Amino acid sequence: MTKNHKLAEWLELRIPYDTTARNSIVEASCQQYLKKRKRVKIIDLGAGTGANCRYYLSKISQEQEWFLVEQNQELLEIAFDRLIVWAQENRYESQLQNSRLVLKNQVYQITIHRIVGSILDLENLIDLNTLDLAVANAVFDLFSEKQFQTLLECLKKYQLPFLATLNYTGTNFIPQTDNDSDFIQYYNQHMQRHQYFGRGMGPECGPSMWEAMKRIGMKVIQGESPWEITSSDPVFLQLLLRFMEESIPEILEEATLQDELNNWLLEKQQMIAQNKLSCNVAHQDFWGEWE
Ligand SMILES: C[S@@+](CC[C@H](N)C(=O)[O-])C[C@H]1O[C@@H](n2cnc3c(N)ncnc32)[C@H](O)[C@@H]1O
Repeated sequence: MTKNHKLAEWLELRIPYDTTARNSIVEASCQQYLKKRKRVKIIDLGAGTGANCRYYLSKISQEQEWFLVEQNQELLEIAFDRLIVWAQENRYESQLQNSRLVLKNQVYQITIHRIVGSILDLENLIDLNTLDLAVANAVFDLFSEKQFQTLLECLKKYQLPFLATLNYTGTNFIPQTDNDSDFIQYYNQHMQRHQYFGRGMGPECGPSMWEAMKRIGMKVIQGESPWEITSSDPVFLQLLLRFMEESIPEILEEATLQDELNNWLLEKQQMIAQNKLSCNVAHQDFWGEWE
């Protein structure tokens, strides 16, 4: 399985958790705004395999046009495959025309465009004047504060309202065992390691996004969107642990800590196998409108 297919599999597995976690008050504020429009044009930032777009398709009752912006071309191709399956399951006819997918039933038409490119280059990718809304799911903990600020400046220029869901703010295992706090801290620090664009906001994205949105002049509504992963989902718990296993060693300074990490991972794996481990992953959702 290629790296992109693994990522696509992970993005699909997280859908039921995201669906339950999404903050209903934040989402209702966006729905309230959309209600005033006959047709809606929405840009999905960091669209991945289109899970965010698929989530909203049946929640929005107007004619919709979507622009999926994603830097990874293969994920966008998978996104269209999955949208075609969604169309079949929801009794829409689908027609694929190059980078455009048209879904139709007797009442509605939904047009979806795929655009390979960066969230930080939106003005060169699409005419932002024609859009009603920008959405993004599970993207901004990956961004630096500066990158997020750049995006907000662009949204401000076009007065585009913004719904940003499932921004990671922390992990907690239940029950807690020795070393949890150390290794979760390493995992969080890995998200904030130095990269070519600076440091990702990682688990600090909640307050940083809130402050940046307020500072630039948005009216902001924020809400929690936690995943509650019970011991009855060992596959998902194992995947979370694998992310930790792959990332933490990159930032461990002392070799002895690798042994401690291995022991900690082994203990967690045994707890998963015995259905004795659960996990909460904290996130925040944001709705921002221009005052
Ligand atoms: C965790 S995934 C979430 C995907 C999707 N929104 C979902 O809910 O399933 C984050 C996505 O953001 C994309 N991404 C990150 N930085 C980006 C950038 N600067 N421009 C475009 N896409 C970006 C990644 O390639 C990845 O597909």
